[in-house]
Amino acid sequence: KRIVVLISGSGSNLQALIDATASGRIDGRIVAVISNRPGVLGLERAQKAGIRAELLDHKAFDSREAFDSALQALIDSHEPDLVVLAGFMRILTTEFVSHYLGRMFNIHPSLLPRYKGLNTHQRALEAGDTEHGCTVHFVTPELDGGPLVVQAVVPVATDDDASRLQQRVHECEHRIYPLAVEWFCADRLQLLQEGVTLDGALL
Ligand code: GRF
Repeated sequence: KRIVVLISGSGSNLQALIDATASGRIDGRIVAVISNRPGVLGLERAQKAGIRAELLDHKAFDSREAFDSALQALIDSHEPDLVVLAGFMRILTTEFVSHYLGRMFNIHPSLLPRYKGLNTHQRALEAGDTEHGCTVHFVTPELDGGPLVVQAVVPVATDDDASRLQQRVHECEHRIYPLAVEWFCADRLQLLQEGVTLDGALL
């Protein structure tokens, strides 16, 4: 399978995916990494792994629609089977999302449907949650709202602050993202009208 990864930052999830493809655990190849921000560590990680690293700076575009359509053209030039959003900090147009329906994943640092959007760790702490975590989901037009594929749960300690909690969640992200991509590349996952199936069974 051909995989394109979109990033905006450090790319530690990208690194987890690079490692899982290199080890053969994921039956697929990352054919390109695209960042909307220049100079980020994730682009360096791609280059170091011998993966094509491309920059498409959203600031060079007048509108969200113009950026998304250029991004779609760039992604499609790589003919991907799967598009992976790995810390890609952009809201996407419905048209863009619809084009990749059933073949685009996102990872979000909360136990969705809780805490869509930003500052998830702080919000979990403020709510007094005893459990927090992360979620891989198929991307649909609703922000952080697509059908869930896999979640990891971490305990919240009474003396946690947002940064410690974030670190614990991040470690889990690096476990579940390769797992979801592994399933997808083995043709085990599908997005259907009724929801997500793994090995034919509804999740
Ligand atoms: C992760 O916490 C992800 O859940 C969020 O952005 C962060 C990306 O981290 N959407 P990294 O760039 O993969 O290190």
